[in-house]
Amino acid sequence: MTELCGVQLAGPVLNGSGTFDAIAARRAFGDALLERFPFHAFVSKTITLAPREGNPPPRLWETPAGLINSIGLPNKGLEGFLERDLPELVELPVPLIVSVMGFSREELATLVRRVGERDEVALIELNVSCPNVETGLVMGADPAETALAVERVRPRCDQPLIVKLTPNATDPAAVARAAEQAGADAVSLINTLKGMALDPRTSQPWLGGTTGGVSGPAVRAIALEQVRAVAAAVAIPVVGMGGIASGADAADFLAAGATCVAVGTESFRDPSAGLRITAELAGPVPV
Ligand SMILES: Cc1cc2nc3c(=O)[nH]c(=O)nc-3n(C[C@H](O)[C@H](O)[C@H](O)COP(=O)(O)O)c2cc1C
Repeated sequence: MTELCGVQLAGPVLNGSGTFDAIAARRAFGDALLERFPFHAFVSKTITLAPREGNPPPRLWETPAGLINSIGLPNKGLEGFLERDLPELVELPVPLIVSVMGFSREELATLVRRVGERDEVALIELNVSCPNVETGLVMGADPAETALAVERVRPRCDQPLIVKLTPNATDPAAVARAAEQAGADAVSLINTLKGMALDPRTSQPWLGGTTGGVSGPAVRAIALEQVRAVAAAVAIPVVGMGGIASGADAADFLAAGATCVAVGTESFRDPSAGLRITAELAGPVPV
C-alpha cells in the first residue's frame, strides 16, 4: 500500500495526465480494463473552464527517444467534464485525481471549487504550466506566481492539492518550496520540456503549434535530477515522472525521493505499461 496525502493507494504507479484515455480504453477493452487497471490512481486529462479545440495538426513528432506533442489541451471544458466524463471516470477501480488549468487565478479558483464539490474526486492536480493572462508569466515557472495561485485556490476545496511543476523553470525546487508554503499538499514533476522539430521537406516547424512538449526516455535524466532536488527541498510528497518505461526506472525515481511515480509516454507504446512497471517494481531489481 502507498499513502498519498492521506489517500490509500494499492501501489505507487499513477498515469501522467493526458497520456492514458481511460474512457476510450474502457470502450475498447470493456470491463477487462477495470479488472486489470494499469494504475493505482487515475489522473484525468487537464480540463479548462471553457471547452478547447486544441492546437491545429500535426500534433505529434517522434524523436529518437520519445515524443514532442503540441496537443494544446483539447477538452470539453468544466461543465462538459462534470456531466459527461466524470460519471465514467468514477467507475474506475482506483482513486480519481482531476487535473485542472486556469488562464487566470480566478479561473483556477472556479475550477477547483466546482471540481472539489464532487466527493468522487480524491485529489486535485493543478497544472500550472500555462501563461497567466493577467501577468503574461507562466504560473509554474515563477515561485511568487505559483504561491499566489496556490494561496488563492487552497481554501476552495477539501481535497488535497497536487501542484504539477514545469521543468521549464530556472529553479524547480524554489517553485516547489513556494507551492508547499502556500498550502500545496504534494507536488508532481516533470511536465514536458519545451522543444520543436522541423519538417525535413520544408525546414518549417512540423507541429501545428510551432513548439511542443518533449517527453519520454529523452527527458528521464533531467526528470530524475529535478525530482531529487525537489524531494530534498520539501516535506510534502513528490510524484515523480518523466520517461519512466520500466520498473528499474520507477525504482530510481522512488530512490530519488518520490512517493509515487507516473507513467506517461510509455503508455502510448504499451497501454499496459503501468501493469508491467508495477510487476517489475515488485520483483528483483535488474542489474
Ligand atoms: C500526448 C501528451 C499529452 C499530455 N497532456 C497533459 C495534460 O493534459 N496535462 C498535464 O499536466 N500533462 C500532460 N502531459 C505531460 C505528462 O503528463 C508528463 O508530465 C510528461 O509527458 C512526462 O512524462 P513521460 O516522459 O513519462 O511522458 C502530456 C504528455 C503527452 C506526451
